[in-house]
Amino acid sequence: MTADTLSTKNSPYPSTDAAVLFRAEGLHKSFGGVRAVRDISLAIPAGTVFAIIGPNGAGKSTLLNLMSGIYQPDAGSMVFDGIDLVGLPAHRRVRYGLARTFQKIRLFKQLSVIDNVVAGFHIHHDIPAWQYVLHGSAFRRDHARCRDEAEKLLAFIGLDKRAHLLAGSLSYGEQRMLEIARALATTPRLLLVDEPAAGLNAAEVETLLDRVGMLRVQGVTVVVVEHNMDLVMKVADRVLVMDYGQYLFEGSRAEVQAHPAVIAAYLGADFQ
Ligand SMILES: Nc1ncnc2c1ncn2[C@@H]1O[C@H](COP(=O)(O)OP(=O)(O)OP(=O)(O)O)[C@@H](O)[C@H]1O
Ligand SMILES: [Mg+2]
Repeated sequence: MTADTLSTKNSPYPSTDAAVLFRAEGLHKSFGGVRAVRDISLAIPAGTVFAIIGPNGAGKSTLLNLMSGIYQPDAGSMVFDGIDLVGLPAHRRVRYGLARTFQKIRLFKQLSVIDNVVAGFHIHHDIPAWQYVLHGSAFRRDHARCRDEAEKLLAFIGLDKRAHLLAGSLSYGEQRMLEIARALATTPRLLLVDEPAAGLNAAEVETLLDRVGMLRVQGVTVVVVEHNMDLVMKVADRVLVMDYGQYLFEGSRAEVQAHPAVIAAYLGADFQ
């Protein structure tokens, strides 16, 4: 891992010595006249949970899309574990260990739950793609390995009993969890999740919280965009607050909860 020091360009907080896994400087992204992301800089320490919050339209998903390579920035730099990401397409970033889920669920709804996870393994197949055409023993071994791993991931996320149902038949909350299992199949070092708790019931939110905590313990760095403040305030090590595409504040949970501009812009009276 590349040792780097933590400093966030606009942050009033001093640098620390924690190793940074992902760093962005001066990111900009506009859609026509809409300046969705304006001069955002951030530094995500390895092994932490980093939350991005802000009102609807604040630019959170656009920032995740820039980080994951769905969009390229108009300006700015991004480095992930020493790798310059600008210009790299999303699938290359996945290979480097950067995976994500989407705000709008993107599953293969006509495939079984387990096959959705197996599909996530494709970048780790040991044998070249042309050998799959031959359906040789290497293919069968590789396929069996993928299914074993997929079963483990489904057990981790709590969907092992659902493995052979069609993905489209799962509840909304279960589909969100399946998206996470599929992203984990790429063995990410940095997992980006966009509103994972949206539509989850209270028990599912608890499971999600627990699993994010377990991932963190296992050394996976997690970036979570979320409106559920209860979840953010339980799980996040650092919180970036965005408003109108811009940096508003970045700090610990306690600092965010106490910051007057954040309370005024987003959190409301509940957090005072
Ligand atoms: N592909 C796009 N084309 C045009 N405008 C876009 C596109 N993606 C995002 N925007 C605009 O950029 C701004 C930021 O949108 P974004 O989806 O990043 O916000 P968000 O913080 O994720 O909001 P929400 O909490 O509602 O998901 C909005 O004004 C949105 O309409
Ligand atoms: Mg969004």
